[in-house]
Amino acid sequence: MAARSQPHTPQNPDANSDPRVSLPPTLSTDLRGRFVVFDGPDGSGKSTQFRRLCDNARAAGLVVCEVREPGGTHIGEQIRKLLLDPSVKEDVDLRAEMLLFMASRAQLLAQRVRPALERGELVLADRFISSTLAYQGAAGGLPIDEIMAVARVALGDTWPALTVVFDVDADTAAQRLRPLLRGREFDAPKDRIESRSAGYHRRVRTGYLDQAKANPERHLVLDATRTPDAVYASLIEGLSTKLGA
Ligand code: TYD
Repeated sequence: MAARSQPHTPQNPDANSDPRVSLPPTLSTDLRGRFVVFDGPDGSGKSTQFRRLCDNARAAGLVVCEVREPGGTHIGEQIRKLLLDPSVKEDVDLRAEMLLFMASRAQLLAQRVRPALERGELVLADRFISSTLAYQGAAGGLPIDEIMAVARVALGDTWPALTVVFDVDADTAAQRLRPLLRGREFDAPKDRIESRSAGYHRRVRTGYLDQAKANPERHLVLDATRTPDAVYASLIEGLSTKLGA
């Protein structure tokens, strides 16, 4: 066989010139047709990691369907406004709140998630049922059995293969949220749920950790207090451990 001529330039000159520069981990797991959820307390940094994985999965040739909750459909975005708008002064009953999140979810599954999974796409969701169990359940006090009964109706047989929990303590999360909130347009106040008490947000965190303990195969808990690069590296490694062939 004829020898091919080799290019003389190194493939990654930056990495060659500085051995301290480590390359970002690459996605080696086959994620086609998988449904993966990113979840965690407000201020956990999950949305930054979500963006990075979506971009890198696309660069690796995968077709990615990215969704966020509540919202992601026309109906879901209307529900989002009702649920999060701080100008809604009326007290929302806890069960009504849970049912609205679940209604947004049912619409999202029907309109976007199931068709994408059928096409063999990777579905990445920013929040899902795990948020309802943590916020309305563990923190809000709604019985988990009640939420699960409604979830069985709303989700049918479409459950995530893996839920990645970005774990962060309440103090670190609050510190991270402060500049974000200041940066919002028109000095917008915190949304209805963000503005709940510190105790509420502590219970949210415990709610996620309890879900992961109860079902470790379907959860990946990441220490999200580390640098974004370190968190991303353990995300990629965890995806391959939990979902790898
Ligand atoms: P969002 O602005 O999307 O926050 P984030 O960027 O942190 O995801 O706001 C979603 C808020 O709604 C967040 O405070 C969590 C809350 N939430 C629930 O309380 N229950 C749920 O089922 C979901 C999906 C979200």
